[in-house]
Amino acid sequence: MRELVETTSRPAADLPLALERDSAVSMAAQLGDQLRAAMRSRTLPAGERLPSTRGLAARLGVSRTVVTEAYQQLYAEGWLEGRHGSGTYVADLPARAGGHPAGLRHDEPGGGAEPEAEEPGAPEGAIDLRPGSPWVRDYDHAAWRRAWRKAADLPPRANPDPYGLPRLRDALATHLRRTRAVLSDPGGVLVTRGTGNGLDLVAATVLRPGDRVGVEEPGYSKARNIFTARGARIVPCPVDEDGLIVDDLPDDLRLIHTTPAHQFPTGGRMPISRRERLVAWARRTGALIVEDDYDAEFRYDVAPLPALHGLDPESVVLLGTLSKSLAPDIGVGWLLAGRSLLDAVARTRIRLVDRTSGPVQAAVAVLMERGDLDRHLRRMRLEYARRRAAIVESLGPLVRGDTAGLHVMVELPEGLAPRVARDAVERGVLLDTTVRHHHGPVRVHGLVLGYGSATLSDVRKGCAVIAGLIGDSGTRITF
Ligand SMILES: Cc1ncc(COP(=O)(O)O)c(C=O)c1O
Repeated sequence: MRELVETTSRPAADLPLALERDSAVSMAAQLGDQLRAAMRSRTLPAGERLPSTRGLAARLGVSRTVVTEAYQQLYAEGWLEGRHGSGTYVADLPARAGGHPAGLRHDEPGGGAEPEAEEPGAPEGAIDLRPGSPWVRDYDHAAWRRAWRKAADLPPRANPDPYGLPRLRDALATHLRRTRAVLSDPGGVLVTRGTGNGLDLVAATVLRPGDRVGVEEPGYSKARNIFTARGARIVPCPVDEDGLIVDDLPDDLRLIHTTPAHQFPTGGRMPISRRERLVAWARRTGALIVEDDYDAEFRYDVAPLPALHGLDPESVVLLGTLSKSLAPDIGVGWLLAGRSLLDAVARTRIRLVDRTSGPVQAAVAVLMERGDLDRHLRRMRLEYARRRAAIVESLGPLVRGDTAGLHVMVELPEGLAPRVARDAVERGVLLDTTVRHHHGPVRVHGLVLGYGSATLSDVRKGCAVIAGLIGDSGTRITF
């Protein structure tokens, strides 16, 4: 152990690790402690690849479960990240002496301006019920290849259009008219690289340093990060089971970010009366509403509510994305706004040399024109509905916000969710809590369960683990 405090980095394979078999501390915990110490001292620097679980187990003369358990714990704490198909690496952690990685400060307030570590990938064999990722393993390969072949027929362009490829803008306008009841002509659509890009473009276009920007509390932390990076002062605005609480909004906000279709992370759907009051507030105060429509295509009880943007296209900017409906890797989204704001955003793009890849837009246009995206959405809606039903069946009375999207919230007494998340890791289940979604003190307590990237059978197994841990705590799940 003492050798681990040296400061020069060395390959992970050479690390001096020693486990005591008859210690009161489990071997997995000992291994976790030693690796954590090595990462903290940068002996194991960010980006370093760790040995495979099989290789390290053989070297230490222990079972592979010991190593897997230690890795899983470190993943859950944010020390490690997985790069798909290529192993386990030390995560790029913010430089600070000895603390926990950001994003894992269970039971502490969200902490606002602190940088947040990227969510770690799941270790092999773990059941990952954290929100954020859609199911990407089941898509129509033939349609995907056809779209790329057709996109490859088009020559690359010297002067990309800041509004996007006309053909894709047409396809998006049709799609949004049908799915989101938004009556935009293609001229009102600008193609982005996704919601994050859209948020940044809006912020760069309308915000001045020091402007006050409202964000839902709890809410989407990446939106907070983007606004902060553009010089805004964040004003957390509480939500309840119907989403953003509109009547308490201050009058001096320049902009407010909201997720009315399926509040992130609590899952509330904003009713029409509240939508109308929100738009009236924006008209009165001159604030801009940014409607983040990230998972609205997936609804399980009724047809999706029309987008807020339809109520007042001048006060509401709509941001959509393919990140949930197809995959974040594609990097295509859309921004709908009143004409003068849309033109201003296009000028911002030119100023910042910001663009969406033309060949990617062409491939997405083909997928949409041929109905491949619609077919994919229909298939995934059925699959997600089954996973969501499995969660409700297992944890029913505690489940909130299950009518839409790819995640639900499981409401728990204060302090219990971080404990359940920690104990679940030991059983191979990775969970998220509401803690990191807060900017200030934690006011909504529970788990945020994502079912986008786990199979139906894993969702069932994961829920059984959660139900068991909740039961052990004395909290009753009564149907
Ligand atoms: C609230 C919210 N908005 C947007 C996104 C997607 O953002 P992007 O399109 O930048 O991938 C997510 C993804 O998890 C989200 O949770």
